[in-house]
Parts: sequence; C-alpha cells; structure tokens
Amino acid sequence: MPQLLEGKTALVLGVANRWSIAYAIAQAFRREGATLLITYQGDRQKQTVEELGQELGASKILNCDVTKDEEIAALAAMLHGEGVRIDTMVHSIAFANKEDLSRPFVETSRAGFALALDVSAYSLVAVAKAMAPLMTAGGSILTLSYLGAVRVVQNYNVMGVAKAALENCVRYLANDLGGAGIRVNAISAGPIKTASARGIKDFSKVLDGVAAMAPLKRNCDAAEVADTAVFLSSDLGRGVTANVVYVDAGFQAVGLGL
Ligand SMILES: NC(=O)c1ccc[n+]([C@@H]2O[C@H](COP(=O)([O-])OP(=O)(O)OC[C@H]3O[C@@H](n4cnc5c(N)ncnc54)[C@H](O)[C@@H]3O)[C@@H](O)[C@H]2O)c1
Repeated sequence: MPQLLEGKTALVLGVANRWSIAYAIAQAFRREGATLLITYQGDRQKQTVEELGQELGASKILNCDVTKDEEIAALAAMLHGEGVRIDTMVHSIAFANKEDLSRPFVETSRAGFALALDVSAYSLVAVAKAMAPLMTAGGSILTLSYLGAVRVVQNYNVMGVAKAALENCVRYLANDLGGAGIRVNAISAGPIKTASARGIKDFSKVLDGVAAMAPLKRNCDAAEVADTAVFLSSDLGRGVTANVVYVDAGFQAVGLGL
C-alpha cells in the first residue's frame, strides 16, 4: 500500500502522554511516512514528551506553550532557519479551569472564560499565522473540536463556547489561507478517555450515553480520529476545507435515543 503522507512534514502540537489524541495522530502520520515534528508544553512535560517522541521516531521534539507569542515565534523562526517546510499541522490543544467544567455555565468567571478561549481557540489563529509562511507548498491545518460547540452538553460549559469559536476560526482561517493552498479543517471527535476528558465532571456517563445511543452503538477511539486526520492531511483530502468532520460513531445525528 502506498504511504499517504510520504514526503510530507507534519508539525503536531498537543502530545502530552500516550492517551493524547495527538499521540494517536502522530503514530498514524508516521505509519503513513510523514516526517514528524512534535511539541510539548513547557519544562514540566519535556522529559515525557521527549521519550514519546523518540518512540514515535519524531525528528524534532520542541517546546511551545501556545499562550506565549514569543515561544510560537521562536518555534517558527527556528524551523524557518533550518529551512523546514511544513505540509501539515495538527493543533490538538485545549484548556479550561476544572471548576468551569463542573459547576453551572452561568457561574463562569471573566478570567475563566478568557483563559478557555485563549488556549482553546485563539491559539489556533496564533499558530496558523506563525506557521503558514513555512507552508510554502500549501497543505493542511487541522484542529480538534467536540459536539459541545453546537449543542449543550452538561458540564462541557465554557469549553463548548470555546469550541464554537474554534470552529468559526476554522472557517475564517480557511478563507484567508485558501489562496496559499492551505486547507483548514476540524475533526469533531466523540468522547475519548484522555487526561483532558477526565477533567470533565461525569465524563464516564457521557461515554455510556454515546455507546447506548450512537448509530454504531459504541464509542470511537483515538485511532479512528487519527485515520481521519491522515485523510484530511493527505492529498486525498485536497478538496476539503473550512469543514468540521465528525468522527463520533454518528452520535451528532441522534435526537432522542429511546
Ligand atoms: N478526549 C475527548 O473526548 C475529546 C473529544 C473531542 C475533542 N477533543 C479535543 O482534542 C484535543 C486534545 O485533547 P485530548 O483529549 O487528547 O487531551 P490531552 O490532555 O491529551 O491533550 C490536550 C493537550 O493540550 C495541551 N495544552 C494545553 N494548554 C496548552 C498550552 N498553553 N500550550 C501548549 N499546549 C497546551 C496539553 O499539553 C495537552 O497536550 C483538545 O482540543 C480536546 O478538546 C477531545
């Protein structure tokens, strides 16, 4: 079988551990022949992500906290200085205060709202702006969203608002960058047990609900999200941009699963 990402260089942001969706995407990208560049969020993650990166066969493992403009700029400058061309970038990053993912949404503080929107939505704009000049042959930018962007999901709260902003950033970025041959899309993934997901109150009930009601009668896993990421990042996805692709066992289509 031909490798779908042969000759392409992929920058993957958001690997924290083996359960990260970004880890599964990085694995699938390597399987498909991509050269991998992965980032970690500051010194606290450095050692773990370096070890994971070596396992993944990443050619570079680099620091980038996406709330720090200077770190994004330094990353872009370093890659530019080394003559790296990026063909595909994956943004698999989100954060909200834990208390904002358990109490009623109406109690969200101004600071909690700003933090969630900054890390989970604006950061896509910041990294797209910094990395687009390195995407000299065009390519793909991909981010991760969730159904809470368009429907009320109990306890998802401010993160749902951030994902709504993120999905609209995808459309505006796609429009701005399309002329340079850069496609921008999101995958809206079904619930998957990861470190971030564990921060959401009653997350296991969400998993049970999806398994009971989704057309496929089960949850999706990170490998299934990763295979869709391969498609969107490869030339097979060349006509797809400004889109949100659901990889959720069909749950988004269900009204009331009785
Ligand atoms: N797990 C799910 O059920 C699910 C479903 C749909 C969408 N998503 C989305 O998938 C993406 C990845 O989440 P995950 O579930 O793999 O969890 P995860 O905790 O493994 O990944 C979240 C990543 O965000 C990174 N991050 C947070 N703040 C950062 C910052 N300031 N700078 C750089 N990196 C930062 C973390 O280091 C971590 O690597 C998120 O956008 C999440 O909202 C997850």
